[in-house]
Amino acid sequence: MAAKIAFILGAGPNVGQHVAKKFAANGYRVAVLTRSGVTTSDDYLGVKADFTDPLIVASAFKQVRDTWGDPSIVVYNASALHVAPADDAFSVPLTAFQEDLNVNVSSLYAAMQETIKGWKNLESSSKTFIFTGNLLNVAGARPALLTLGVGKAAAAHLIDGAVKSYSSQGYKFYYTDERNPDGSPVGTSPDAKAHSEVYFQLAEDPRQRPWDYTFVKLKGFTKF
Ligand SMILES: NC(=O)c1ccc[n+]([C@@H]2O[C@H](COP(=O)([O-])OP(=O)(O)OC[C@H]3O[C@@H](n4cnc5c(N)ncnc54)[C@H](OP(=O)(O)O)[C@@H]3O)[C@@H](O)[C@H]2O)c1
Repeated sequence: MAAKIAFILGAGPNVGQHVAKKFAANGYRVAVLTRSGVTTSDDYLGVKADFTDPLIVASAFKQVRDTWGDPSIVVYNASALHVAPADDAFSVPLTAFQEDLNVNVSSLYAAMQETIKGWKNLESSSKTFIFTGNLLNVAGARPALLTLGVGKAAAAHLIDGAVKSYSSQGYKFYYTDERNPDGSPVGTSPDAKAHSEVYFQLAEDPRQRPWDYTFVKLKGFTKF
């Protein structure tokens, strides 16, 4: 049987790299997308793309499809933020706002489209799309993080919409959010190992668990 394929979009040094390593260690072929296209392992397929242009997303998926086939597991870990002054959130230039929205929302939409298109031709496998979120979709606005928060809120909406539209076909979609045990945010350093373990469990489970998958390191899914 051909190896299963995982595609990690935004395979930076933290969450993305650990997730890539976890899937590779469990027999997956792993494609990793960064802006440089450089990989940390010869076993990975490196894909170069900048998601400030959503129209680039289809060609990134085509590269994986043409090399190995369609990925059954897709992880969207890329995000962008132009930090705003907390007392003047709307001073972020419109062009910067648009750039962040392209990375956080429009390229995510394009990646979900490409994923679903590929799954339609894919036999078996546990088809799973995982978006790395945070608590901004439910916490209300943090003015300094406006472009990120708008993105996470929209991303949660897209994931919810995908679950409602495709769960009858066995496709799974998740918005993940790592929290501290007391429900507070983990700050700027999410635990990459905890993410990799949770993402692998979600991929291997044939059932759709709660799509808004809030979890705590060493504990797993936790509803706050
Ligand atoms: N649960 C929480 O509270 C929490 C806390 C912190 C972060 N997070 C989330 O965790 C995720 C990533 O964190 P991380 O620690 O893994 O960071 P990371 O290692 O820096 O990875 C971020 C990735 O985003 C990619 N990216 C940024 N702009 C891009 C663009 N224009 N086009 C394509 N890719 C782009 C980066 O690409 P390059 O490799 O090319 O730089 C990098 O691969 C984010 O979604 C973030 O919001 C959650």
